Amino acid sequence: MKEIAKNIYWVGKVDDRKVPFHRLILEKGTSYNAYLIKDEKNALIDTVDLLFGREFVENLAEVLPLDTLSYVVINHTEPDHSGALGALIRKAPNAQVVCTAKAVPELMAMYKIEASRFLVVTTGDELSLGETTLSFHETPFLHTEETMVTYHKETQVLFTCDIFSTHVADEGVLKISELPDAETMLEDFKVYYKLIMDPHRRYILPMIDVVKNLPLTMIATSHGYVLDQDLEKYIGFYEESAHEGKNNVKALILFNSMSGNTKKMARILEGELTAQGIQVESVNTEKADKDEVLRKIQEADGVLFGSSTRYADLSGNLETILKELKELEVEGKVAAAFGSYGWSGEAAEVIQDYLLAAGMKALRSSDVIKSTGMDNVTFPLRVKFNPEDSLPMIKAASAVFADAIRY
Ligand code: FEO
Repeated sequence: MKEIAKNIYWVGKVDDRKVPFHRLILEKGTSYNAYLIKDEKNALIDTVDLLFGREFVENLAEVLPLDTLSYVVINHTEPDHSGALGALIRKAPNAQVVCTAKAVPELMAMYKIEASRFLVVTTGDELSLGETTLSFHETPFLHTEETMVTYHKETQVLFTCDIFSTHVADEGVLKISELPDAETMLEDFKVYYKLIMDPHRRYILPMIDVVKNLPLTMIATSHGYVLDQDLEKYIGFYEESAHEGKNNVKALILFNSMSGNTKKMARILEGELTAQGIQVESVNTEKADKDEVLRKIQEADGVLFGSSTRYADLSGNLETILKELKELEVEGKVAAAFGSYGWSGEAAEVIQDYLLAAGMKALRSSDVIKSTGMDNVTFPLRVKFNPEDSLPMIKAASAVFADAIRY
């Protein structure tokens, strides 16, 4: 237990494993930051991952008689934060679960908690703990529908759960002011934003409005470091990313190629997109590590998937990656299928089916016509044999793809 502000204690868990997370591996581990606020009524802000639920409850019971716990605030229902709730609520008979209305049915189903144990809050609601007060502010889709942030008025600490977090396990260091050089965590902070928050970019600015209207001394996140200095810099990064991300977009081209023509197509697409000011990375999936490819897909603003056709189906190993898409946070991400073929070209259609099944915004011919009026570009993008013979169509398709990820 470590005091981070007056009568507010970190009671979380540092997880220094290589943590499996949405089909990715968190190489630097993570932490599950829960906080205990001591007052006339004691309140817990979030819990820890399901895996550590029992340990968490045992540890908490050593520092607080559990029958003196009045509230368990659940800012976000995912089990890396609510995971100890089921065990805890049965051992803390006087505690109410404080959460948004959308969180209630999820938590009831996840942990078999009866309706009478919930206290539903919405934006602007306040809850007195005795000497001090909490207020609540909904932040929907950051990154799931039921999320909120909780503010402790007297200390001006904002508990943001996933928002402003970092996936790092740094045992012994909690506040960034304790780091020898706080700049060292900035890259991890940005990677986290890109992976978790950026897909929900449109919800960032309303959240920033909430945060900017609260006087803050500290942002107590639920993964990695507590932000206790230079708050404007971290808030500003989210705000700028939400505003300007479209000016600095990244495209990823994944391909495998039997005869070299699909590879040549990938190279032409890469050149065209680069010429339009887009950062592009091309990866031959036959030579790449699958987990690394999945990470790159998460980080890219748009992804082109290319394959030759072999017996009316995909060639090579691209399908092993396509099968993982549904497990990633790619819903709404722009994508396109392409490929060169000889006597038939079904691979691109097979890719298209995977993209749509994963909820990606897979470009279709009808989208092109509707948004640009161009009738000489078809998606999936298929060329027969040598792509050099279809350069105008590939160039036009590149322009459509570039616009789709920019706007
Ligand atoms: Fe850290 Fe959305 O869970």
